[in-house]
Amino acid sequence: MPDLRFDGRVAVVTGAGAGLGRAYALLFASRGAKVVVNDLGVSRHGDGSSSNAADKVVEEIRRNGGTAVANYDSVVEGEKVIKTALDNFGKVDILINNAGILRDKSLVKMTDQDWDLIHQVHVKGSFKTSQAAFPIFKKQGYGRIIMTSSVAGLYGNFGQANYSAAKMGLVGLSHTVAKEGAKYNIHCNVIVPTAGSRLTEDILPPDLFAELRPELIAPVVAFLCHESCQENGSIIESAAGWAGKCAIFRSNGALLRSTVVDDVTVEKVRDKWDQICDLSNAKRMTSAQESTGALMEALEGLKNKVEEETVDTYEFGSK
Ligand code: NAI
Repeated sequence: MPDLRFDGRVAVVTGAGAGLGRAYALLFASRGAKVVVNDLGVSRHGDGSSSNAADKVVEEIRRNGGTAVANYDSVVEGEKVIKTALDNFGKVDILINNAGILRDKSLVKMTDQDWDLIHQVHVKGSFKTSQAAFPIFKKQGYGRIIMTSSVAGLYGNFGQANYSAAKMGLVGLSHTVAKEGAKYNIHCNVIVPTAGSRLTEDILPPDLFAELRPELIAPVVAFLCHESCQENGSIIESAAGWAGKCAIFRSNGALLRSTVVDDVTVEKVRDKWDQICDLSNAKRMTSAQESTGALMEALEGLKNKVEEETVDTYEFGSK
């Protein structure tokens, strides 16, 4: 099997001046892609700005014989980031929404600014870049988008109410972009990384920090963006040379009334609670239609029951 290459492709990587983004940018460039290295050069909390971070990575790529340009805009102005790709390389094929900051505080101590800034950078930033790239992808019949979530988003984490809400928001954004893009060969997937970077240097134990190199995750992201990869609308968790798929499952559930004319009571919910929460026969849900389809089936079942009972003993208006 030949190596997977990105010759002729243009990749935009946001927050590529450090950590995971830098690893993605270096890998894409080493496989032949032309890369836009976006980075605002902020502190871990989102303060300040500098062109140094992006410049350093561009230099590194060029030293290795690759092609790259820097962009220093905030992802909140995503259209400017995409414009850099168009101005320099005439197109864009791959968009990695990776830029990110932290403003950790417990729920009660969190300020509006902590909340808003996190949503601006992570959610609004990914929305703006994706919105700007989408028409170009659609026209060329090819595009790959990655959203970056977090285990804090999927599972929750103490002190990260703003960050986990934003990171789960990106899962919803990705699922919808995946559906809107599918027929144009635009794929959108979520990466859930855990890596040693300045975001995690005081969170991860030092020995683990060294093991969790961003370079071990970059090939997973690169494969998801290759033209041969058909994955779309998925959530892929990856760390330390491991990757796995996460998905949303729903229990078989329980009917909370016997016929369509019955009411649901709090006591009926209590009595069925174990069955509602029983995940042993859970089904994977991949669309809103699939979910409402199952509900309609349940409703039809209830209606049929009324019809059967009407024929036998039931009289409308008797309850
Ligand atoms: P990092 O701090 O090493 O790199 C993030 C880069 O994004 C920085 O260079 C920063 O200047 C840039 N940036 C921040 N705000 C920006 C903006 N508004 N516009 C453009 N650039 C901006 O962080 P790391 O660890 O590489 O994180 C990358 C992404 O992965 C983030 O979205 C983060 O939330 C996510 N993530 C990281 C995890 C980890 O274990 N390191 C775990 C889960 C998610």
